[in-house]
Amino acid sequence: MTKNIPRRIILGPGPSSAHPRILKAMSNPVMGYLDPDFFEILEEVSGMLSMLYNTEGTSFAIAGTGSAGMEAGLNCLAEDGEDVLICNNGYFCERMIMMAERLNLNYSSLNFEWGTAIDLDLLENKLKNSNIKLVTAIHAETSTGVINPIAEIGQLCKKYGAKFMVDCVTSLAGIEIKFDEWNIDYAYSGTQKCLAAPPGLSPVAISEKALDYIRNREEAPSSWYLDLLGISEYWGKDHIAHQTTPVNLVYALREALQITFEEGIESKFQRHELMSKALKSGLKSLCLELPVDESIALNQLTVVKIPEGIDDESFRTDLLRNYLIEIGRGLGEFSGKVWRIGLMGESCVASSVFGILNAFENLLIKNNYEIEKGSSLSSASSIINSEFPRPY
Ligand SMILES: Cc1ncc(COP(=O)(O)O)c(C=O)c1O
Repeated sequence: MTKNIPRRIILGPGPSSAHPRILKAMSNPVMGYLDPDFFEILEEVSGMLSMLYNTEGTSFAIAGTGSAGMEAGLNCLAEDGEDVLICNNGYFCERMIMMAERLNLNYSSLNFEWGTAIDLDLLENKLKNSNIKLVTAIHAETSTGVINPIAEIGQLCKKYGAKFMVDCVTSLAGIEIKFDEWNIDYAYSGTQKCLAAPPGLSPVAISEKALDYIRNREEAPSSWYLDLLGISEYWGKDHIAHQTTPVNLVYALREALQITFEEGIESKFQRHELMSKALKSGLKSLCLELPVDESIALNQLTVVKIPEGIDDESFRTDLLRNYLIEIGRGLGEFSGKVWRIGLMGESCVASSVFGILNAFENLLIKNNYEIEKGSSLSSASSIINSEFPRPY
């Protein structure tokens, strides 16, 4: 006998719950990855991704999770000896640093306190006094719950002649991305967050300038598998074979994009904003501390300080075993200090907000916290009902 797969309400930093239509789309028959009918599906996916990224450039998906998108960018967009600057204000920036180290890149990092956003003056000062050819930043830092000023960083990259690579793993389909307007050269994401598909693909967008750069490198990128030019040539009109495409994951991504556009991209962003407001207000009414300043706090992911006297592990275990709810633990510097609650894609609905707040109330009371039962629910409910009366 094999283990039954348990039901879960996943409200962590990702994956989020997959939409049933997406799971169904994945169960369609496998096609050959060089079948001309499959090429039409690739074209549809690529077109919808470009709309979501707001680009006239090239969009496609890499086989692999968000980290594959990250590694592909670092692998392709800097050559030996070129200076790379990694803006570092969280755990996933540190992952980039580890990759840059292994790829032997000539990188430096500009470090900011966790829980704060990238400081533009410090960045400009750095760019002014160096010869940096590639800048990287994370749009939505999932370890800290902070949004970074990508539009402004893009302006600085343009001013100082650096290519700009942006991690959109947690932002794509949850908040707006203006790839062309923000002067981004390469952005990557993951399917398992606001797109509400299972993990396994990294949807990316790349500028013509970045593709030209890869074409004209003295040496080909060290990874063949993650060569963005090679993958783009498979998705492009000549369909030159690269690796075997995970076709059923492409069906999933197409359905996820279709669902996103059916809802309307603006409504989807508003839903993320509204649910986040309701959750944050509920948590505050339980006197829980949200350490990130409201002006830079993400909608898709809320960071909450673990209250005094509560055991991190046993609280989360109680939540999982007795309420079937998964939330995220703190990572890196925030390990043991915070919880991370995600409201992304299909998980971003009123029932998730009420479910988690109800569970938090019960568990806090069990841990001898004096709170008024029902207070967080009524606070969340007044926001959901008054501001945006839509039946999510
Ligand atoms: C901001 C950010 N970047 C990169 C990643 C890595 O993506 P993956 O786990 O899909 O490889 C994550 C994953 O949570 C993330 O949140």
